[in-house]
Amino acid sequence: PLPRARRLSVIGTGYLGATHAVCMAALGFETLGLDVDAEKVAALSAGRLPFYEPGLEDLLRDQLATGRLRFTTSYEEAAAFADVHFLCVGTPQRTDGPGADLRYVDGAVQALGPHLTRPCLLVGKSTVPVGTAARLEALLAQLAPAGQGAEVAWNPEFLREGFAVQDTLRPDRLVFGVTSDRAERLLREVYAPLLEPAEEREPVPLVVADLATAELVKVAANSFLAMKISFINAMAEVCEAAGADVLPLAQALSHDPRIGGRFLRPGVGFGGGCLPKDIRAFTARAEELGVGRAVRFLHQADEVNLRRRDAVVGLARELSGGDLCGRRIAVLGAAFKPGSDDIRDSPALAVADLIEREGAEVVVYDPMAMDNARKVFPALSFADSVTKAAVGSDVLLHLTEWPEFEDIDPRALGVTVAGQRIIDGRNTLDASRWRAAGWEYRALGRPRSG
Ligand code: UGA
Repeated sequence: PLPRARRLSVIGTGYLGATHAVCMAALGFETLGLDVDAEKVAALSAGRLPFYEPGLEDLLRDQLATGRLRFTTSYEEAAAFADVHFLCVGTPQRTDGPGADLRYVDGAVQALGPHLTRPCLLVGKSTVPVGTAARLEALLAQLAPAGQGAEVAWNPEFLREGFAVQDTLRPDRLVFGVTSDRAERLLREVYAPLLEPAEEREPVPLVVADLATAELVKVAANSFLAMKISFINAMAEVCEAAGADVLPLAQALSHDPRIGGRFLRPGVGFGGGCLPKDIRAFTARAEELGVGRAVRFLHQADEVNLRRRDAVVGLARELSGGDLCGRRIAVLGAAFKPGSDDIRDSPALAVADLIEREGAEVVVYDPMAMDNARKVFPALSFADSVTKAAVGSDVLLHLTEWPEFEDIDPRALGVTVAGQRIIDGRNTLDASRWRAAGWEYRALGRPRSG
């Protein structure tokens, strides 16, 4: 019998899974979210999100109230409940190398498989090394008692933190990696509200491909974005050496529609739980496949990116008279990007940590990510406002471009600091305003004064 897509399970309720479960319920499906972390399941069941994402907590509560959305820790329950299982567990970087750690992906399939008693579709959404889906399909065939009918499809996810709900309900595109018409039909059923929208909305473009291609689309997309950011940051390095200005350069490039202006913002570089680990895992996988040379530029993109962090530290040292030891440095920003409390591989905290290791006292302020930052970086100090972080500081570092930092009054803040020196690591502050207020304003890829 053909499985039906009315009831879905979502395995893994981290960033991706929680968003997906809530949004699928919002599209009308009976949805069961599964996580091995009982605390997470309890929080979500009580309408609390374990992380910050605009709009998602309200939607979670709405969907819980409809009765369509529930959460569990039981694989047995998930197997009995749904015929379509979305796999949304994390694939972090391995601790012993650049490759992806697949223990959660494999663990989920091993836990689900033995409970399957009827044909179903396992739909991978996690970002995985190419070849994983085919391997999981073989694993599932071994594990499922029913033997036949447990199929794997791949449906990569492109959501951005801060825009997770919007990106899930109105994605730029959908990608289905399938090995049968049956799997494609089932996925079309699940995504019918997006593929055949009722209102006058445009249908979301769909690309149907094989499993390996679908897996690759995701890493290729993130690699391109990382490369684009590193390209403009490489230009920033050249501008610094040549006495040129990367901002008008980026602006001029952005007017060429073939290049475009998005992801062309120079600064301290990319971080987060995705771009850095994805390009590393991709390079590692390409090496395994014997095509490491084809993606060597990603290694360079990674290097350019990490060098920007060193560049900020170098500038801070320079502005501190050559030695950071004993200086007081204020860091504005801890999240890897604004609109998020995520500090995974955050450039802001990486810089703060490097400076603290050189003997400076580092005081960090972030509107949203302080609790997370405190846990991971106990050696840093934290203040609960811009002014409290800045008071008595020798140099101010602007490292995550929260909108509230653009509204700082440099004249008022200047009175509280020891030295009026600021490094704009995101190139979003108004240089002339800070300079007019008497500050030495420095930025990556830009001339000393302008
Ligand atoms: C990224 C991708 O944009 C999503 O499409 C993808 O689904 C997601 O990874 C994922 O793999 O799950 P995200 O990590 O939420 O999303 O953040 P981005 O908005 O892509 O920003 C990544 C980093 O690049 C941030 O640290 C940001 O500050 C930096 N960035 C971005 C720049 O330095 N310059 C830019 O011009 C743009």
